[in-house]
Amino acid sequence: MIKIICSQSTKLACLLALLTASVLNTTYAEDLPSPAKFNTDNELILPLNYREWVQVGSNVSPNELNNGKAPFNEMRTIYMDRGAFQHWKKTGKFRKGTLLLKEVMSAERYKGLTGSGYAAGDVVAVAGMLKDSEKFANEPGNWGFFRYPKLDNSELFQKTSKQFPTGKCSGCHVSGAQDDMVFTQHYPVLTDSKGTGRVAVPVE
Ligand code: HEC
Repeated sequence: MIKIICSQSTKLACLLALLTASVLNTTYAEDLPSPAKFNTDNELILPLNYREWVQVGSNVSPNELNNGKAPFNEMRTIYMDRGAFQHWKKTGKFRKGTLLLKEVMSAERYKGLTGSGYAAGDVVAVAGMLKDSEKFANEPGNWGFFRYPKLDNSELFQKTSKQFPTGKCSGCHVSGAQDDMVFTQHYPVLTDSKGTGRVAVPVE
């Protein structure tokens, strides 16, 4: 957030500063800047606190619903950075710097007190999409794609990622996703709040 302290003697400068701030605010309206940071090798650093972001969706595609062999037998939880969510709920658009991360987990069958079902197993990778009209000026939708797999024979994950070649990721997103290459059709948290300012479950 831009804070400007005004006194009588600096009134004109102050007015100008306020005007500039309001212009800046129209392009970058949020108090929360994008969490996207690159290292010197131009790799996107995985923000380690992403589980504190807004969880916008979760999906599971188990083998049992796919003739015994799902293309991806996984559970997935999708997180969006908070500043981008604020912008989305106000404008219905993904701002420059929007970072969406998909945590990919194995899908485990279980029998519990609520019945039989699927629960998340181990996390196997984190996949990311970053929107930036300058950095990815020539990419579809100005999205760059990234991936942070679990390291071989380790508990740890890759912490930085080079941009994935567009062809490897964007195809499905261009052809199948409902809104600016994002699968909002599976994310009621996003469709409910799109351009409405709403954050609660819609009750009106
Ligand atoms: C086979 C089609 C397909 C390919 C290829 C693909 N995706 Fe996706 N992606 C999906 C679908 C479908 C979803 C919606 C959520 C779900 O079902 O997992 C999704 C969701 C996502 C999301 C969450 C935000 C959103 O757009 O809904 C991210 C981030 C993501 N994918 C990253 C990647 C990355 C990185 C790659 C390349 C390494 C990639 N995807 C390749 C189909 C694909």
